[in-house]
Amino acid sequence: MRKLYLIGIGAGNPEYITVQAIKALNIVDVFFFMDKGEAKQELLNLRKEICERYIEDRSYRVVEVDDPVRDPTISDYTTRVELWHRQRALIYEEMIARELEEDQCGAFLVWGDPSLYDSTLRIIEHIAAGGRLSFEFEIIPGITSIQALAARHKITLNGIGESVVITTGRQLSAGMSGAAERTIVMLDGQCSFNNLLDEELDIFWGAYLGMEEEILLSGKLSEIASMIETVRHEKRQENGWIMDTYLLCRPTGVAQARLSRSGNSDDDNDL
Ligand SMILES: C[S@@+](CC[C@H](N)C(=O)[O-])C[C@H]1O[C@@H](n2cnc3c(N)ncnc32)[C@H](O)[C@@H]1O
Repeated sequence: MRKLYLIGIGAGNPEYITVQAIKALNIVDVFFFMDKGEAKQELLNLRKEICERYIEDRSYRVVEVDDPVRDPTISDYTTRVELWHRQRALIYEEMIARELEEDQCGAFLVWGDPSLYDSTLRIIEHIAAGGRLSFEFEIIPGITSIQALAARHKITLNGIGESVVITTGRQLSAGMSGAAERTIVMLDGQCSFNNLLDEELDIFWGAYLGMEEEILLSGKLSEIASMIETVRHEKRQENGWIMDTYLLCRPTGVAQARLSRSGNSDDDNDL
């Protein structure tokens, strides 16, 4: 039976790849490179570099396909994305059936980890549910941009006993989540942190994490927001693309005071 691997390749540094991922790379016959967006060339180059660096004495094929673009005339975000997923599922299904023989292994190399803001798994599940193509699949986890952000800033993501919310710039523009003292923001092309300048927040910002162009900035949000926006704009112009992620958090003293007021003293939470 055909087998597909969804391999998390880490978020930018070829050395983020795991031993498990290297083992999987070495049994794949066909790699499917599906890219989109402004960072397309960079993402493609990293995937090629990973294959060349880690695959030993084995021939493999690469099939490159342009992902379809979302239809901008559909105003509802969820409808637009769902339709786009269906289009992609059709393309992927046809491509797998055409390019992969019954007894072969194929792989999608997924940026970061497949579980986080990536639709490859949803599309593969959609194809499997359709029942027209029989295959099994396995997921190999990768290092996310969130882990890279935490490591490069040398921070823990959660405060003691606190929650962490992972969200998008789109959601953040609606306001900081009341449920968490700490919020990680991805997919923010609009610098949505500017909506929160009145709040007492610190920011840990990282762009091109794990890559040569990496930039790290941190401090009081109200003091460094405009610098981040300027740097972001300039680097995007210079490189033709940018990917950035950030953590927003209440300064430690403020967060701890809130926690004590809540009266929660469960020692198991002190991690
Ligand atoms: C489509 S999501 C993919 C996330 C990916 N699956 C992961 O595990 O990190 C793309 C977003 O991830 C974040 N991102 C991915 N790679 C990054 C990097 N090297 N540096 C900073 N942010 C990154 C950015 O917020 C970007 O908008």
